[in-house]
Amino acid sequence: MRAMSHDTREINRSSDPFADTTRRWLFGYGSLIWKADFAYAARRPARLHGWERRFWQGSHDHRGTPQAPGRVLTLVEAPGARCLGMAYSIGADVLEALDLREKNGYLRVIASLEFDDGERAQGLVYIATADNAAWLGPAADEVIARHVAGAAGPSGSNRDYVLHLADALRGLGAEDAHVFAVERRLRALQPEATTQ
Ligand code: BEZ
Repeated sequence: MRAMSHDTREINRSSDPFADTTRRWLFGYGSLIWKADFAYAARRPARLHGWERRFWQGSHDHRGTPQAPGRVLTLVEAPGARCLGMAYSIGADVLEALDLREKNGYLRVIASLEFDDGERAQGLVYIATADNAAWLGPAADEVIARHVAGAAGPSGSNRDYVLHLADALRGLGAEDAHVFAVERRLRALQPEATTQ
């Protein structure tokens, strides 16, 4: 089977199921939790049921390069899991900019969000799957930490990405065994170089 291109802008442009409404929810589970550099009308902690974070996607354009990709998050299906993140109410214009920012293998998927008060809504979430050309896949936490420690790209070091993420998740009160295990190993590799 031919791998999907890692530039997903064309596919994403044709899949906005909320095109006829003025606002839609976008669920952030990674850098979108702390880096919302776009206009939004509201922001609310939210949960996705049945998904969990993994550092299984390669980053050629943010936290790595095509020659030395970084490791960044995607979501994988996990029955019974709950992924806590941040939902943003955005207009259609914001999606174009996000498609560009997240063009390295991520597709928009429609998801059912649950807010803190139990209210539910349909939203969009960017997910990278194994059929994209930038996919790296599973590895042991220690291997991921060593990979992260050595990668950097136009958006900064892969290490800062993981440390910011872990801090943002603590701020939300999220539990995430995978993220915190990689963070622990990363800090143990370079304890002196704390960037927070
Ligand atoms: C996020 O922070 O939700 C996100 C992760 C990967 C790609 C796009 C957004």
